[in-house]
Amino acid sequence: MTTLLTHAHTFLRAHLQVGDIAIDATLGNGHDTVFLAQQIAPTGLVYGFDIQAQALVATSQRLATAHLSHLACLFHTGHQKMAEMIPAAQHGKIKAVMFNLGYLPHGDKTLISQAETTLQALNAARLLLCKTGVISVLAYPGHLGGDTETVQVAEWCQQQALQNFAVTVINSEHPKPSAPRLFLLRKIS
Ligand SMILES: C[S@@+](CC[C@H](N)C(=O)[O-])C[C@H]1O[C@@H](n2cnc3c(N)ncnc32)[C@H](O)[C@@H]1O
Repeated sequence: MTTLLTHAHTFLRAHLQVGDIAIDATLGNGHDTVFLAQQIAPTGLVYGFDIQAQALVATSQRLATAHLSHLACLFHTGHQKMAEMIPAAQHGKIKAVMFNLGYLPHGDKTLISQAETTLQALNAARLLLCKTGVISVLAYPGHLGGDTETVQVAEWCQQQALQNFAVTVINSEHPKPSAPRLFLLRKIS
């Protein structure tokens, strides 16, 4: 079974190249950060964000184990602040932004991404992208608040589809309302 996370990685891998700049908007345990760093290595940069110190520790350790620490710049703050934290010189040069929403696996399940700040971050991300930039959003309607967040992400993606993005939505193989959904956006002009 192909998971939605595998679909997200396949999409991002197809667009990322050596030397690119990417953003991991939700560090969590750092698996996605390492994945992104592997795509842009041996040069390039991954900016990462998380609201939990535990996520930065886990991600830093995972990057060190993979000998990729030099390719990442991690911020202990919400992804909604990405435009403030990333140097202005790199605005408009970001190739990919990855969101894996929800809570930290094996962590505090009350510390979850919130619809309001997720939409703020998505709006910031779209402005940071380069001409051929992409965004992936893996959303989980199954936890408290995740349903509202997923609906709002879906609506935001529909709005982008009317503007300058090609949008693909991939649903889980199990078609339950609580099943995760993947949103893939590719800038087309
Ligand atoms: C599903 S986990 C991410 C998984 C991660 N990408 C990995 O590879 O392990 C979701 C993460 O989003 C973080 N998060 C929640 N709200 C956030 C926000 N406003 N800004 C950045 N991270 C946030 C949580 O703390 C949690 O670590």
